[in-house]
Amino acid sequence: MTATSAPTTAIIVVAAGSGTRLGAGAPKALVDLDGRTVLRHALDGVFAAAPMQVVVVAPAGHEDAVRAELAAAAGDRHAPTTVVTGGSTRQRSVAAGLAALDPGIRAVLVHDAARALTPAAQIDAVAAAVTDEAGVIPALDVVDTLKRVDGDAVVAAVDRSVLAAAQTPQGFPRAALEAAYALAADSGQEHTDDAALFAVAGGTVRRIPGSERAFKITTPADLERARTLLGGVAAPAPFRVGVGTDAHAFGGEGNLWLAGLEWPGEQPLSGHSDGDAVAHAIVDALLAAAGLGDIGEHFGTAHPEYAGAHADVFLARTARLLQEAGFAIGNVSVQFQGERPRFSARRAEAEAVLSRALGGASVTVSATTTDGLGFTGRGEGIAVTAVALIVPAGAPGSLVR
Ligand code: CTP
Ligand code: MG
Repeated sequence: MTATSAPTTAIIVVAAGSGTRLGAGAPKALVDLDGRTVLRHALDGVFAAAPMQVVVVAPAGHEDAVRAELAAAAGDRHAPTTVVTGGSTRQRSVAAGLAALDPGIRAVLVHDAARALTPAAQIDAVAAAVTDEAGVIPALDVVDTLKRVDGDAVVAAVDRSVLAAAQTPQGFPRAALEAAYALAADSGQEHTDDAALFAVAGGTVRRIPGSERAFKITTPADLERARTLLGGVAAPAPFRVGVGTDAHAFGGEGNLWLAGLEWPGEQPLSGHSDGDAVAHAIVDALLAAAGLGDIGEHFGTAHPEYAGAHADVFLARTARLLQEAGFAIGNVSVQFQGERPRFSARRAEAEAVLSRALGGASVTVSATTTDGLGFTGRGEGIAVTAVALIVPAGAPGSLVR
């Protein structure tokens, strides 16, 4: 690109956040949507808009990945591009981007990479509306009826006609934005968006219409919404299921332990730990759903600390393993086959114990006989099947967070 045609508008795409609420185990901007990352989609929108200097603010340690995404999105366009490393807050990340602006830049757009599907037309509209005096933001009318609340008390109605939901990119005259950032750095104030920071410094901000597609990907449900919009068909729900089975023979001394309960007078099941085949099948189902291996790996004979342990210990540990892997438990359904014990009178008690051990997730237990068939029918032992459903932590419907 020749000096005479160098752009006078720049866009700073902030992509340095960790994506805590998404909980995807990677920086949000680098999460895959449809074979392309969140950042790649955001940049595709940017490069489909009028030519600008493009500054991408990367998560520390991921600069090379971001550089590759930027190069892929730019293709053979000759727009000036830069990657800088972000800071610990969004405001610091924007400040890092501002430091990388070319000298000839007069207007600056600040854009969340997390608004991956923002139409290029929205970027162009913001760029066109920035003046030397005033900033501009895209914003949507608020459609919900709003209430002012204090705890669970509804204190007052709020007039939604005077409110709007802010999006990005937000555009500003460069010099005034830099001055506003310098002021915020001096005062140590953190603002939730650039328009607020700009207004505190005395700047004027105008609003243009936003668009539904410019929503910010924040939670797993937002990610699914983006995938659905891209695919044009319903994306698979983020659920995962796992199945677990176990069987133990009756044998040994003492009382039976089954489904988290002690059964006085009933013959025990033999096995490492207390032989509670219901608990063991649940553990296997949960580990399988999360892709975390199986019970032998985490609780087997190589772990003598679990010898004689009861269901509560196994299940609490399993719930923790899932939580560490970013999953919450939806529900667990388990059924055992056996002639004894007679279960129905203690079903509620068993379900409460197992559910509590899993941090409150729903556990339902049923029992059946096999018409005298097989080892369970002959009263030699018990066989169990468990199915578990899990979801990414933070997804709607998750119980254990
Ligand atoms: N961002 C950034 N640097 C930070 C924090 C946020 O560049 N220190 C960017 C994010 O990458 C995102 C945008 O600011 O594109 C909006 O932030 P948000 O949606 O809150 O993203 P995260 O901070 O990554 O998510 P969370 O708050 O859930 O951790
Ligand atoms: Mg954040």
